[in-house]
Amino acid sequence: MNDFSFHVPTDIRFGRGSIVCLPGELKKYGSRILLVYGGGSIKRTGLYDTVSELLREFEIFELPGIEPNPKLSSVRSGAKICKDNKIDMVLAVGGGSCIDASKHIAAAACYEGDPWELVLDRSKVKNALPIAVVLTICATGSEMNPGAVISNEDSHEKLELNTPLLYPAISICDPTYLYTLPASQTAAGAVDILSHVMEQYFQPNDGAYITDTMSEAVMKTVIKYAPIAMERPDDYEARSNLMWASTIALNHLLTAGKGGAWSVHPIEHVVSAYYDITHAVGLAILTPVWMRYVLDDTNKARFARFAREVWEVRESDDMEAAEKGIECVSSFNKSLGMPASFSEIGITSELFDKMAEEAVRTSGLAERSYVKLTPEDVSQILYNARGL
Ligand code: NZQ
Ligand code: ZN
Repeated sequence: MNDFSFHVPTDIRFGRGSIVCLPGELKKYGSRILLVYGGGSIKRTGLYDTVSELLREFEIFELPGIEPNPKLSSVRSGAKICKDNKIDMVLAVGGGSCIDASKHIAAAACYEGDPWELVLDRSKVKNALPIAVVLTICATGSEMNPGAVISNEDSHEKLELNTPLLYPAISICDPTYLYTLPASQTAAGAVDILSHVMEQYFQPNDGAYITDTMSEAVMKTVIKYAPIAMERPDDYEARSNLMWASTIALNHLLTAGKGGAWSVHPIEHVVSAYYDITHAVGLAILTPVWMRYVLDDTNKARFARFAREVWEVRESDDMEAAEKGIECVSSFNKSLGMPASFSEIGITSELFDKMAEEAVRTSGLAERSYVKLTPEDVSQILYNARGL
């Protein structure tokens, strides 16, 4: 097991009605709040009214319209509101897109230059406004981590700003807020959670047994409950287990003692930067393709363990078990209604070589990923994901 430090300062308030603590908690940080939300789901579900009523004694400024794959232009708008109005705290009510935009806004509000400079050089983040979250979709884990993934619509870059100053101070996680999610978003969340765990599970260092075993539990939780939540949107047991799984999947617990770079996310981020697809759609297509590409005799034991422990594959031969495990991932994604190839979502091959170069240039794929990948490897993975 590698050495590690683990310090996660986010206060999680989990459960039905946990939002009632919001006014008391936010009061600690001041009275001027920037409320950040998306395209309108919180108005349709009534959550906007609940938050407004709870925060009636605060001065609320609003930044609505955060798009899935949040854009730099939204961050610039939010930072300007913060600076013009001496905002004390940023409150994200929504999913990963709202939370990530809020984190970047919180840092940009304390910075004189353009917000994109912070993404290109995170050492420039010297301060950030405190961030609070009311979570409405479980997928990214952004509610308890310091990452913010932002798309620069001019340069077609989708990059992560990641610094400890961006941990949310408090996150309200009420599983009943997930009841209104369309099945497609429940599926997308499940695929993203599974991918986060796999990115860490498939990292060098097989000696972190405790971490790998916890990862297997989180993956089994997603496999068990995602279909139930899709069939019965108001199943509290399913929603609550998925919600906590998404938080644990990416709050650094499952990387403790492991190490190395992620493999599939850097490739997906380049694809969604150019084509603005749903993050998990890209992951669903790329994950089994990446697995088939990197599986060989040197790593078949790890893939076989994944197949046996997570998918209950019974083959005794490691290579056969490993291949069955990859089939299980494909079938699961299909059962959730996710596409399996780029051709199904209209992505053609013109930009594959360019995207492959960028994926390698902007990540640790070539030096630190589970199986090191060159631009040629990534390009081949993209071609293999084309489908018919
Ligand atoms: O915009 P509104 O109208 O609110 O609708 C949203 C949006 O269309 C809808 N939605 C959310 N909660 C709902 C709901 N609809 C009905 N009822 C509810 N309760 O769902 C749609 C997707 O929301 P979004 O926030 O985009 O989803 P998600 O949480 O999956 O976030 C995706 C973004 O996070 C990034 C992704 O790349 C993508 O940009 N990621 C962030 C990470 C992080 N910060 O750690 C890590 C991830 O790997 C990922 O890259
Ligand atoms: Zn993800």
